[in-house]
Amino acid sequence: MGKIKRIGVLTSGGDSPGMNAAIRAVVRTAIYNKLEVVGIRHGYNGMINSHFKEMKTFSVSDIIARGGTILKTARSAEFRTPEGRQTAYNNLKKAGIDGVVVIGGDGSLTGARTFCDEYSDIPFVGIPGSIDNDIYGTDYAIGYDTALNTVIEAVDKIRDTASSHNRLFFIEVMGRDAGFIAMNSGVACGAEAVFIPEIPDQVRGLKDYLEKGFKRKKSSNIIIVAEGDDEGGAMTIAEKVKEDFKEYDVRVSILGHIQRGGSPTAYDRVSASKFGYYAVEALLDDQKSVMVGFKNGEIVHTPFSKITKMHKSVNPELIKMAEVLSV
Ligand code: F6P
Repeated sequence: MGKIKRIGVLTSGGDSPGMNAAIRAVVRTAIYNKLEVVGIRHGYNGMINSHFKEMKTFSVSDIIARGGTILKTARSAEFRTPEGRQTAYNNLKKAGIDGVVVIGGDGSLTGARTFCDEYSDIPFVGIPGSIDNDIYGTDYAIGYDTALNTVIEAVDKIRDTASSHNRLFFIEVMGRDAGFIAMNSGVACGAEAVFIPEIPDQVRGLKDYLEKGFKRKKSSNIIIVAEGDDEGGAMTIAEKVKEDFKEYDVRVSILGHIQRGGSPTAYDRVSASKFGYYAVEALLDDQKSVMVGFKNGEIVHTPFSKITKMHKSVNPELIKMAEVLSV
């Protein structure tokens, strides 16, 4: 075993279903390896304000099925300042924490990278957690599967009313500036079209599609819109389409934060457990400034420097396939 004796664990950024399963795996793997574990509450703000809590095996009992995060989370503005990070470092030192596991998305891992560049004597290991699934260096991020299932459940229900009333529905989903949730929920629900930030100027194409559909007497349609689309959100796109298609009865539905909650799916629970286990193993192996992730089903470790520089985008073949399947 390496020199690490006491580790901290925190969740940061937007919560995602499965974060609790990851916390549980970190705490239990650490205790199994005779490490002490400290829960850092409220994301990086907890480091700055010394919101530390000793964690035992029972502290994480009965949480694997719960959405959200028992450690709470935040997007910390203070941690983006050198003064904030200095205070965080001093507090970690004072608390005897000599390794940290950060569970979060792009912004949280960027924060970890900056901190580790300034203070290299406390190793950090990251776990990808974001419903957006947009983190470079991993095929999968905790929460994505649950969010996708929440979206398809909602869209299937909307489809019932769309076809009963012959309506054209624009449904806006989350994803920040990436189209993973939109594209995969679109495929899973048989959407007629999907608007994603990765494809510019889609309104013209949709109008052509609707024109042809109208001639074929196709009267109900589901269009999924990623919130970060360059044409604007579902509301804006619906307005643009309505101008030319007065005959369509148009409705807009914005799914919102319902996508972030709920009990994690089996896939999220198992993935989060693996990430938690391998993150602690990485610290014990003297690894630092890396994120654990999946590549083709295998655990991989990607340096923070790469994650924060590179961009992950939707597979063009999936985009092509979705188009083919919606003819
Ligand atoms: O990153 C997760 C996410 O849910 C995005 O999909 C969304 O754009 C954003 O967080 C919403 O953030 P907030 O909860 O701060 O409104």
